[in-house]
Amino acid sequence: MNILFMGPPGAGKGTQAERIVEQFGIPHISTGDAFRLAMKEGTPLGVKAKEYVDQGLLVPDEITNGIVKERLALDDCKKGFLLDGFPRTLQQAEALDVMLAELGRGIDHVVNLKVDRSLLLARLTGRRICKTCGTTYHVLFNPPKVEGICDKDGGELYQRSDDTEEKVGTRLDEYSSKTAPLLDYYSGKGLLREVDGEKDIDVVTSEIAARLKGTL
Ligand code: AP5
Ligand code: MG
Ligand code: ZN
Repeated sequence: MNILFMGPPGAGKGTQAERIVEQFGIPHISTGDAFRLAMKEGTPLGVKAKEYVDQGLLVPDEITNGIVKERLALDDCKKGFLLDGFPRTLQQAEALDVMLAELGRGIDHVVNLKVDRSLLLARLTGRRICKTCGTTYHVLFNPPKVEGICDKDGGELYQRSDDTEEKVGTRLDEYSSKTAPLLDYYSGKGLLREVDGEKDIDVVTSEIAARLKGTL
C-alpha cells in the first residue's frame, strides 16, 4: 500500500506513522527526519537544509524532491511506503506523480490528520523525542514512564530546535500558504481520507487503519 500522511505541524503524522508502518509492514519515509539526520551528520545536504529548517521554512523543492526520488527507488519500497511530510507544495506533488509513474506505481490513500490550529502550539512545545530510537513523546499528552527517559531503550529525550513558539508560528504559516492547498489536489483525485486528529492517540490509529482497510 502506498500512503501519504498530511496535516499541519504537530498534527500527529510522525506519531501515527510509527504505528501504522508496524501494522502494515512498510517503510516510513519522513523528509523532516531525513533533513534532521543530515544536519546532525553535517553532510552537504544537512548544511543546506539547516538554513531553512532552523527558520521553520520549507526546504527548496529541488533538494527535497531529490531525496524522495532516491529513497523511493530502494528495494524495500516495492511492498509499499508511507510518506510523512512530503509532498508539501504543488510542485512536489507533481514531481511525486512523475516519480511514481516512472516506477509504475500510484498513490492509494492520502490521510489528512485534522487538528485545530489552537491545539498545535501546545503539542509542539511539549514534544520530546528519544535520541536513540526517535520515538515521540509529549510531556503532558503522552509522557514517558520516567521523565526525560525513553520507555523503550532508556535513551535520553530531547526537544527539536524548531519547536519554539516563534518557529512554530512560521511553520504554521508555511503550512497554510503552501501545503494546505494540496488537500484540494488530492481530493480532486478521490484519494483524500480525512481523519480527526484531535482524538486520543490510540483512537486516531484505529481510525486511520480502518480507513486504509476500507472498513470505515
Ligand atoms: P517535519 O519534521 O515534517 O515537521 P512538521 O511537518 O512540522 O511536523 P511535525 O513533525 O512537527 O509534527 P507531526 O505531525 O509529525 O506530529 P507528532 O506526531 O510529532 O519537518 C520539519 C522541517 O523540515 C520543515 O519545517 C521543513 O523545514 C523541512 N521539511 C520537511 N519536509 C519538507 C518538504 N516536503 N518540503 C520542504 N521542507 C520540508 O506529534 C506532535 C506532538 O503531539 C508530540 O509530542 C505527540 O506526542 C503529540 N501528539 C500526537 N498525537 C496526539 C494526540 N492525538 N493527542 C495528543 N497529543 C498528540
Ligand atoms: Mg513529524
Ligand atoms: Zn528510545
